Amino acid sequence: MQHKMELNLSDILRYVPKFQGKTVVIFVSGAALELMDLNNFAQQIAILSSLSIRTVIVHGSRYQINLQATKSGIAFEEQGNYRITNLEILEIAILESEKLTYLIRQYLSNTFSTGLMLKTVSGPFFKAKPLGVIGGIDYQRSGQVEKIYSQRIQELLDLQYIPILSAIGFDAQGQAYNVRSVELASQVAVSLQASKLVLLLEDDYTNLSSSANALELAELEELIKQNQQKWPALRSERLRAGLMACANGVERAHFILGTEQDGLIREFFTQTGAGLLISGDSYRFVRSATIQDIPKIMEMMQNANQLGEFRLRQEEDFAKKIDDFFVFELEGKICGSIALHSFEKDGVAELAALVVEAKYRHLGVGKKLVEFIISRAKKQTLSTLYLSTTRATQFFKQFGFEETDIDEVHPMVSQNWIRERNAKIMRIAFSANGS
Ligand SMILES: CC(C)(COP(=O)(O)OP(=O)(O)OC[C@H]1O[C@@H](n2cnc3c(N)ncnc32)[C@H](O)[C@@H]1OP(=O)(O)O)[C@@H](O)C(=O)NCCC(=O)NCCS
Repeated sequence: MQHKMELNLSDILRYVPKFQGKTVVIFVSGAALELMDLNNFAQQIAILSSLSIRTVIVHGSRYQINLQATKSGIAFEEQGNYRITNLEILEIAILESEKLTYLIRQYLSNTFSTGLMLKTVSGPFFKAKPLGVIGGIDYQRSGQVEKIYSQRIQELLDLQYIPILSAIGFDAQGQAYNVRSVELASQVAVSLQASKLVLLLEDDYTNLSSSANALELAELEELIKQNQQKWPALRSERLRAGLMACANGVERAHFILGTEQDGLIREFFTQTGAGLLISGDSYRFVRSATIQDIPKIMEMMQNANQLGEFRLRQEEDFAKKIDDFFVFELEGKICGSIALHSFEKDGVAELAALVVEAKYRHLGVGKKLVEFIISRAKKQTLSTLYLSTTRATQFFKQFGFEETDIDEVHPMVSQNWIRERNAKIMRIAFSANGS
């Protein structure tokens, strides 16, 4: 473990303005909760809160569920790193998760030495869906996150509440599912566009790499790949959750040993920190497409086309236009695609072929791809970017696209378009200075 850095008041003062008003998602594993000093944890959260850092806590309960199932003589099956959650296990998962949420709320509402009573709230902050049947195995009540209710969380943060999430979520019919808590934390951090995802764990990750305890995403990705066979699956899963968060807009992920006294505060307010730090380069996962990517791009488009989300252009010759295409790739898997068809002489371009594979949606992939294309269009000093969409007008409005009429579209762009009654045309104009 690295040398412990003493907290120094002038350091703290230097860092405070950087974090004020920022959002931080803190994940605590069930095993860490079992081992750590909860008074110290509560005090550290109280410090963050009193510095106006918007804090969300997500906790796991894997350790407690396994312990309770073993005590009750209930066998549970695991496939890879997924537990098959039958109804008996679900009942234990609900009880253990509730107990831990209660425990955290109890400590936070009574931060003894400070006299601060933090306002906490727990509740349904995400919608779950079943993991389903994979490779012929029915995962029953093991679930995945369908949607984070980010607006609800933001509203509570505005009111200075600390939302606390466990890994139990409900689907539209009110059925409960147990999702993977670390994935939930990562997705909450992405949906809130948090500046940090902090993971308080029962293990020390500071010695995973021989280099300093600060890794860039590509280094972490490589490290996970190299150690895939050697490491426990849980470690790879946690690091991947940090990777996914940073690849999708969260500035940093920190992995800290939960039992480290004041670990959270030292990570925030000292230069060397207390744990392993991952930082992201925002477009690192977007790359130019190659001919080899065409089948996957086609497959994503055809799937979206079948669902009526996307109109596949029959006439499109991908191979000829491959230089216009970009893909979002994570750990060798293509999660989404986009194209920029530019008519540089005329100063205009079309944003097209934006599709994100269903299982990677709501993670910020689509947003990242659009931001990438906008930044590219600006670099090419284009004046206007157009697109045509049937279902995603609201999605594009967040970037500044406005609806327009097809007759207003530059003919170089509209010449290949088929006029569709339900298609909306949108445009975004850039000023000469690229803003
Ligand atoms: C639209 C699309 C690219 C978004 O990809 P994504 O990776 O899920 O997007 P992000 O994670 O960056 O952003 C998600 C947010 O955008 C908004 N959003 C996503 N799809 C939307 C849609 N069709 N309409 C309105 N808003 C939408 C939501 O606010 C969503 O927030 P949530 O995650 O809290 O629900 C994806 O849904 C897709 O591939 N759809 C089918 C093809 C398509 O419509 N392409 C665009 C026309 S060319």
